[in-house]
Amino acid sequence: MKKKKIRVFAPASIANLGCGFDVMGLALDEVGDILEISVDDGDGLEIRNESGVPLPEDPELNVVTPVIRKFLEITGNKAMVRVRICQKIYPGSGIGSSSASSAAAAYGMNELFGCPLGEEEVVLCAMEGENLASGGYHADNAAPAVMGGIILIRGYEPLDLVKLPVPGNFYCAVVHPHLTVNTKEARNILPREVPMHAAIRQWGNVGGLVAGLYSGNIGLIGRAMEDHVAEPYRKAFIPGFDELRAALMQAGALAMNIAGSGPSVFALADRQDIAQKAGNLMDAHFRSRGIDAEVYVVKVSNKGAKLIA
Ligand code: HSE
Repeated sequence: MKKKKIRVFAPASIANLGCGFDVMGLALDEVGDILEISVDDGDGLEIRNESGVPLPEDPELNVVTPVIRKFLEITGNKAMVRVRICQKIYPGSGIGSSSASSAAAAYGMNELFGCPLGEEEVVLCAMEGENLASGGYHADNAAPAVMGGIILIRGYEPLDLVKLPVPGNFYCAVVHPHLTVNTKEARNILPREVPMHAAIRQWGNVGGLVAGLYSGNIGLIGRAMEDHVAEPYRKAFIPGFDELRAALMQAGALAMNIAGSGPSVFALADRQDIAQKAGNLMDAHFRSRGIDAEVYVVKVSNKGAKLIA
């Protein structure tokens, strides 16, 4: 095999979008992970983390390991693979840190081997990293990180992914407060069963969200983003959650929800200035409680993982 090397970017993402626990997610513009991947003759995997973000030293605990193994296994290939993690979203931020690296690894391997896998199989490989990080095979970060845009996971067995339209005037303000919420823990606190009254509200909202995205009805999208399944349990991890939501809605945001399993929170707006104002309010909310935070005000990206120079 001739030695080949590429650089790949995969975006951050927001999972769940309120009502779509484990079945909806969107890709964010500009924020994401960059990996450099090379393949050569041989058999093995080396990972170097040069991102400046602390990651486990043990390669068995790095999400790219199971992704690359899965890719090689299903394509029947063998190679010496070297990965340099050049840029990394902070783990535990709730904006798909593990998925961005997993998606970049899966997409990059597929490119290096001449694209033997289709998009859904690339997502399946990326889900191996998600499983290592969170103890579950969910694709609501991995699928948008690979494919871009807003993705509905209609089913997992088999994986059935639907790319939904992204309205033009769709801005997200995302705040990452420096609090640690471990995804495994945030999943484990959820009850195994959902009461019927909560399920009815939830599937009404999922239908409303999909309808809103197709019709470009931003008001409907905002109303439909309520979550009656995970948020009631998880909001306790986020200080002043209800107060923050009230302030953001007052400022003109259409919705505010936990991004994935948190602790990041995102607000949706149909104008950039409102999204910016929401971002400032979220930043001030956490700082006034002595918690540092980063804020991103971004559009949804229609582009997922991609090669970069
Ligand atoms: N759907 C997953 C969860 C996303 O909410 O646990 C994790 O980022």
